Amino acid sequence: MSKVIFNMTVSLDGFVAGLNDGPENGLGDGGDALFNWYFSGDVDVPIAGGGMVLKVSAPSAKILNDSFQSYGAGVWGRRTFDFTHAWGGHPPGSPAFIVTHNVPEEWVYDGSPFTFVTDGVESAIRQAKQAAGDKNVVLCTASILQQALNLGLVDEIYIDVAPFLLGKGVRLFDHLNIAPTQLENILAVNTPNVTHLGYRVVK
Ligand SMILES: NC(=O)c1ccc[n+]([C@@H]2O[C@H](COP(=O)([O-])OP(=O)(O)OC[C@H]3O[C@@H](n4cnc5c(N)ncnc54)[C@H](OP(=O)(O)O)[C@@H]3O)[C@@H](O)[C@H]2O)c1
Repeated sequence: MSKVIFNMTVSLDGFVAGLNDGPENGLGDGGDALFNWYFSGDVDVPIAGGGMVLKVSAPSAKILNDSFQSYGAGVWGRRTFDFTHAWGGHPPGSPAFIVTHNVPEEWVYDGSPFTFVTDGVESAIRQAKQAAGDKNVVLCTASILQQALNLGLVDEIYIDVAPFLLGKGVRLFDHLNIAPTQLENILAVNTPNVTHLGYRVVK
């Protein structure tokens, strides 16, 4: 059955990007180190339709490949869409639902990989689920995760913990308005460059 899952890379102190993130500084000051683990192994993992190839350790490659195969659609916020320059038109998961207040009309055309959602996260997840069918919907930005948690819509949380401290920046868990929530640990895989953790939200 289709699940709503979350996956991002986070510093040990809980940041998904450093300060001053923007179109010319995508992951913010010092934030590029978050993704070191994507390029420090010897197993190729093609992403974005083969447009980019990650090089990770064998255990990370298995986790990434299993994850990518399980995704049927993804949901991102507009800042990530802008800062990645729309991933050059090749989002890491497709179809890609972008939650925003303002639709970038240049990306609206027949066959666009993007669907822009202006009526909130619940609507974006509903549309993504419809597109994903039996596959999972993956949420990939902090603001989307926070809103989805507040709405009670998240089934599983996967976090790739990068072994460093960012100190300041964009926090993964912020603006939460939830009751204390039990999680069940469903994944814990350690490698020298990253620790993969997974939790099921107990409902
Ligand atoms: N570490 C990682 O694995 C990783 C992965 C991806 C991205 N990142 C980084 O994460 C940072 C971005 O994450 P973020 O959480 O700050 O921002 P985000 O989720 O990418 O985007 C937030 C924006 O999305 C729009 N939005 C969100 N909720 C909305 C709603 N309910 N209704 C309408 N619009 C809504 C708003 O933009 P508008 O008002 O402009 O429409 C809002 O400012 C960037 O630094 C990015 O590089 C890190």
